[in-house]
Amino acid sequence: MSEKRSKVTIPYLLERKRSGSKISMLTAYDFSMASIMDEAGVDMVLVGDSLGMVVLGYESTVPVTMDEMLHHCKAVRRGIKHAFLVGDMPFMSYQISKEEALHNAGRFIKEAGCDAVKIEGGVEIADTAAFLVKMGVPVVGHIGLTPQTATSLGGFKVQGKDIESARKLLESARALDGAGICSLVIECVPDKVAEKITESISAPTIGIGAGSGCDGQVLVSNDLLGLFRKFTPKFVKKYADLFPLIDEAVKNYIKEVSEGTFPGEEHTFVMKEDLSDLS
Ligand code: KIV
Repeated sequence: MSEKRSKVTIPYLLERKRSGSKISMLTAYDFSMASIMDEAGVDMVLVGDSLGMVVLGYESTVPVTMDEMLHHCKAVRRGIKHAFLVGDMPFMSYQISKEEALHNAGRFIKEAGCDAVKIEGGVEIADTAAFLVKMGVPVVGHIGLTPQTATSLGGFKVQGKDIESARKLLESARALDGAGICSLVIECVPDKVAEKITESISAPTIGIGAGSGCDGQVLVSNDLLGLFRKFTPKFVKKYADLFPLIDEAVKNYIKEVSEGTFPGEEHTFVMKEDLSDLS
């Protein structure tokens, strides 16, 4: 990617929706991965609270804390020059009160250098989204399968499968759009429902398990790279299978260390002096 590439902004994302040029978003959790993605030309980087499951080893995203999110957002920020950086607000950091939501959202922007925060929920969270936007915090919405409240949704299941639940999703999308969100993640929703939402709102939609009709797509990078092995949702495409490569590299290292063939001379600071006088 050329250094001339300019920073991705909200007007640029809106223009991409208008022109029909699809937006790419990926999750990142550290400096190295963020730099690779940014240099490769991804439009948006999300420090998702999927951090909890794919990096921190929790069973769900629920235990993730503000401190954990900010720590990783700061590392990712240092790796990004162009992409639009979104920080995922963890469970209970924005639900208690609008003031607390603003305080926590402000930390993502001020301390971690995020361009926007993402919050999960529909109609019920639209007032909070509007408050954050009014106070100057760009907000990305997230509807459909919302992992923080997956238990209440009956598990990790496709949402909006019947007309009534599809209507509720559309209402939520419209309420969030009216609140001024700059983008909307739609997760695990049938393609036609996501398409209907996409054509009904002005914010660019970013789908994950929501078909090809959204304005853009997002995947969890550890899924795309074949690094998360606990489960693989239907919507994941593995663009690389890094697990066997890493496994083989680690096993070769262990073997060479145990055989004494690593480090070889080419990895050693060889000293020519005679050390026999060194006592
Ligand atoms: O936490 C996350 O990575 C997300 C994506 C799945 C959109 O919310």
